[in-house]
Amino acid sequence: MSKRSSASRSNAPDALAVLKSDHRDVEALFKKFEATGSRAAKSRDSIVGKVIEALSVHAVIEEQVLYPELRRQLPAAESDVLEALEEHHVVKWTLDALEDMDAQDERFEAKVTVLMESVRHHVKEEEKVMFPKVRKAFSSSELDDMGARLVAAKRTAPRRPHPRSPDTPPGNFVATAVTAPLDAAAKLNTAAARRVRDIVS
Ligand SMILES: [Fe+2]
Repeated sequence: MSKRSSASRSNAPDALAVLKSDHRDVEALFKKFEATGSRAAKSRDSIVGKVIEALSVHAVIEEQVLYPELRRQLPAAESDVLEALEEHHVVKWTLDALEDMDAQDERFEAKVTVLMESVRHHVKEEEKVMFPKVRKAFSSSELDDMGARLVAAKRTAPRRPHPRSPDTPPGNFVATAVTAPLDAAAKLNTAAARRVRDIVS
């Protein structure tokens, strides 16, 4: 049996547990959105704000940790990774558009519906096709180490979508270092913050 990592000794979740838990959290937000009526504008804005943050972080940590590792370890999974990157790209553009909308907008509900369809499709492919390959390609200690790296990457990931930013190494690490601190400032609803947001979008 392979040597256990520090991550596993502390019962930290492995990579697939971290990512599946993120998927469940996002699905719970989608269900909440679907349970609201079109008159619940405030709740809808709040739920979509949480979806934007959760998916922005989740996409970046997969792009920084899981996808490069999978490409390195299992070249046969290259097309799965490339398709996942394209799906992330489309989702980020939708999140980017939603950031500039509110629930009163004529296109808001339709855009959220398309977002949910895209993300549910993506999650299904990851969990049914990609994750079983990951489980086979990596040892349990490697998956534990990757889990710890995913959790660490969450702390420094941008909180907003950046569809124009690089999504593969090393460019995505550079972009994250620049955008993540600015995202925190841009979350404030001030004129200066909005200018920051325009610069880093
Ligand atoms: Fe993904």
